[in-house]
Amino acid sequence: MRFDPRFCPNATRVLGLDAITYGGDYNPEQWPREIWHEDVELMVRAGVNMVSVGIWSWAKLEPREGEFDFEWLDYLLDLLHKGGIRVDLATPTAAPPAWFYKNYPQARVVTRDGTVLTNASRGMAAPSSPDYQRACANVTRALAQRYGNHPAVAMWHVHNEYGAPVSDSYDNASRDAWRIWLAQRYLTLDGVNEAWGTSFWGQTYYEWDEIPVPAISATVTNPSMRLDYARFSSDAVLGCYLQERDIIKEHSAAPVTTNFMALNCPSMDLWAWAQEVDIVSNDYYLEAADPRGHIKLALDSDLTRSIARGKPWILLEHSTSGVNWQDRNVAKKPKEMARNSLSSVARGADGIMFFQWRAARFGAEKFHSAMLPHAGVRSRVFREVCDLGAALGELSQAGVAGSSVPAEVALLWDWESFWAQDLEWRPSIDAQHRERTLAFYTQLWEDKVTVDFAYPEQDLSAYKLVIAPASYLLTDAGAANLADYVRGGGKLAVSFFSGVVNENDTVRHGGLGAALEDVLGLRIDEFLPLRSGDSYTLLAEGKLADACVASVDARIVGGKLRGDVWADDLDVQTAEIMARYLDGPKPDGAAITRNLLGQGAAWYVSSRLVGADLAAFLDAVYLDAGVSPRRDLPADFEIVTRASRDESGDRFTFLINHTEQVVDYVSGTIVENLIPGGEQASAAVAVPPGEVWVVREHA
Ligand code: GLA
Repeated sequence: MRFDPRFCPNATRVLGLDAITYGGDYNPEQWPREIWHEDVELMVRAGVNMVSVGIWSWAKLEPREGEFDFEWLDYLLDLLHKGGIRVDLATPTAAPPAWFYKNYPQARVVTRDGTVLTNASRGMAAPSSPDYQRACANVTRALAQRYGNHPAVAMWHVHNEYGAPVSDSYDNASRDAWRIWLAQRYLTLDGVNEAWGTSFWGQTYYEWDEIPVPAISATVTNPSMRLDYARFSSDAVLGCYLQERDIIKEHSAAPVTTNFMALNCPSMDLWAWAQEVDIVSNDYYLEAADPRGHIKLALDSDLTRSIARGKPWILLEHSTSGVNWQDRNVAKKPKEMARNSLSSVARGADGIMFFQWRAARFGAEKFHSAMLPHAGVRSRVFREVCDLGAALGELSQAGVAGSSVPAEVALLWDWESFWAQDLEWRPSIDAQHRERTLAFYTQLWEDKVTVDFAYPEQDLSAYKLVIAPASYLLTDAGAANLADYVRGGGKLAVSFFSGVVNENDTVRHGGLGAALEDVLGLRIDEFLPLRSGDSYTLLAEGKLADACVASVDARIVGGKLRGDVWADDLDVQTAEIMARYLDGPKPDGAAITRNLLGQGAAWYVSSRLVGADLAAFLDAVYLDAGVSPRRDLPADFEIVTRASRDESGDRFTFLINHTEQVVDYVSGTIVENLIPGGEQASAAVAVPPGEVWVVREHA
């Protein structure tokens, strides 16, 4: 996989996959060839070393079914190769050509409400359609045979953002595949009926061909069935990926990836998907309406590193400035693009790529920013793109690529649980897994505590603290694993509406919290959700009261916290009460508890806490777990450390100043500042507003 130095006069700038990868989606089929030559020159100027090519090119590559035109792609790959730009070559199956829809109208996607989607846009066909699968296999094979050993091809980019915009379809081929999937999972119809609780509302199935797809029905569709359809759909789409990947592997040794959307495409179970790619890659776009969007970006990066099991990953798409598909596409401020990009590097990315290299003049995305915007090389954005390329080159030289991101805390994240919780008729629409996860993550981010994400069944023993912000669905194996983790000395913090159902969305016999009763030392008699806007006061006791006293936040007075959305009627067994409700639906009832189990302890918080109240709760938990937050620095000063995997003991600490003030950072062990133009660092550095400094420290 090493880059061929014959085409790389400046090895620090063009390092292919052995260093930090830099570039973007490149769609030259939208431009005349003379522009392609200019593109390559400008890419070299910007420090670009890889581009993703061919993502939307099916109609150009195969203008008629079975007839291929590779002349333009041969020319392009050779041109890029001569320029020292490596290629992430895409299979174009996210945009089938018009002939496909004309020849195979039955392969169109059918939505849950029965709408048949037409073409004139992009978006795959029905994932289970044999016609779509065959057409994908044909074009993938043709590409892999032709370019499998092309020296420019560094990586394969299968499809584009599987699961978006199409994750599920309710067409006839999907229905047939769904029945087969069910037969494989349950073996018998009795198994299906039992898993889905079909004796409720008289839904029992006596023949396989009686089972429908869970399209819209008169009222709420069987939730267990819908949960299985979500699993089936993730598997069906994964099957499309696997088919293409396996064909590529027959013809090429280059690594294969597909660009995930870890945070923003909730329909794919990426714990399963990530095992099937050679390199995890991910796309993320800031939400312009959120002035602190960098926190969700950080969450997305930590999630992506976690599904990559700690191995380096590639940010395959983000934007240099505004996008085009939000209501108000706010342009990024000067240096914001660098802060976003380097935050991702800090959190384990070894590649920083954008949508897209050159802004499109026509089509749906002509107002989307690009590395080379409509305003051209004189633009601020292009200057910043060149600066970022230089900075990434420096970081590559310093050995950042390949280093790891140590984390002491894990947040539980389970797509299956989220699918189940998102179904209809839950106790409160205000109990939202995304809100809880983001609330806990935000506090940890402000506290500069780096987190991994984990699924409930995985080995958790390396973490000092595991937090379950929203684990509505918990398998028996997951619950047992959490109990073992605590018994072995781990500290666990569980938020409300967790451990409620098993993998079939079925409440366990024995209670609403039966899965976690022993570990939490309590029983849940009843859920007590609140009316919209209602809140109540909790009075802290014990270790939590101590944490409130120690809190520097003026909002915490006399150990009183505010909670809303939710309460439980708790029957406390072995747990110690850490806070009681003073008012609300259960005055004097236990609200927050801590239970000793084996060598560890498990906290339970039955209330929705935010801001200072959540910070006070976490302070008590951190102390219990031996985790050290950094509350002495401004909340929006981001600090993350990558650690070298070799014997050097080098640690690269990224200091990202999202504030408008200079922030002083003191460390006794700084060796040098790695960002070009930055001063050589001593024990203390003063990071200017908006800047990112990366310092090398020794452990
Ligand atoms: C997605 C797609 C890209 C482009 C961008 C625009 O991530 O993969 O092709 O449409 O969005 O933000």
